[in-house]
Amino acid sequence: MTNAATLRRADVADHAALESLQSRASLNNPGDRGALLQHPDAIEVALADILAGHVFLAERDGTIVGFGTVLPRDDGQAELDALFVEPALWRQGLGRLLLEHGAALARLRGAAALHVVANTHAEAFYRSSGFEATGTFKTRFGSGLLMLRTLTPG
Ligand SMILES: CC(C)(COP(=O)(O)OP(=O)(O)OC[C@H]1O[C@@H](n2cnc3c(N)ncnc32)[C@H](O)[C@@H]1OP(=O)(O)O)[C@@H](O)C(=O)NCCC(=O)NCCS
Repeated sequence: MTNAATLRRADVADHAALESLQSRASLNNPGDRGALLQHPDAIEVALADILAGHVFLAERDGTIVGFGTVLPRDDGQAELDALFVEPALWRQGLGRLLLEHGAALARLRGAAALHVVANTHAEAFYRSSGFEATGTFKTRFGSGLLMLRTLTPG
């Protein structure tokens, strides 16, 4: 199976590996590279999110191959705050695996919807995973797409 990977909660010891994976994945998005190289501080995984149990990752043979962060929102819904897959392993189902895990976690916490501010490069991925666009959002580096997926009770 191409997407055989194990999922687990991230630990503080994973912090550096997650930030370097995020850097590789983000720099691989055409168009984002220049802005990110000028603003390396944009690559950040918050230790507080790891400690709070909001960050989860996928591993293959002990190597981290992707991770995601799902945060609770003030309105009781959930926000997919990060989703990154090792670029050499894109289109093998790892993004979907991580997304479904994040959606399941959000559902378990009682959220009825999962929101994301989607990078335009990831729009097709989110649409194919059940998200719909609800608007646009001005990000630090341009425009992002506000997207939403309704979570049905599992
Ligand atoms: C977006 C991202 C997480 C997707 O991860 P992935 O492991 O490649 O995604 P999957 O293999 O699970 O893709 C599932 C489906 O999404 C769609 N999809 C994924 N990437 C796509 C692309 N570049 N173009 C069109 N459709 C795409 C396809 O329908 C795909 O199924 P298929 O391969 O059978 O056709 C990954 O590309 C990434 O890390 N990008 C950089 C960081 C980023 O932009 N993250 C999103 C922040 S909002």
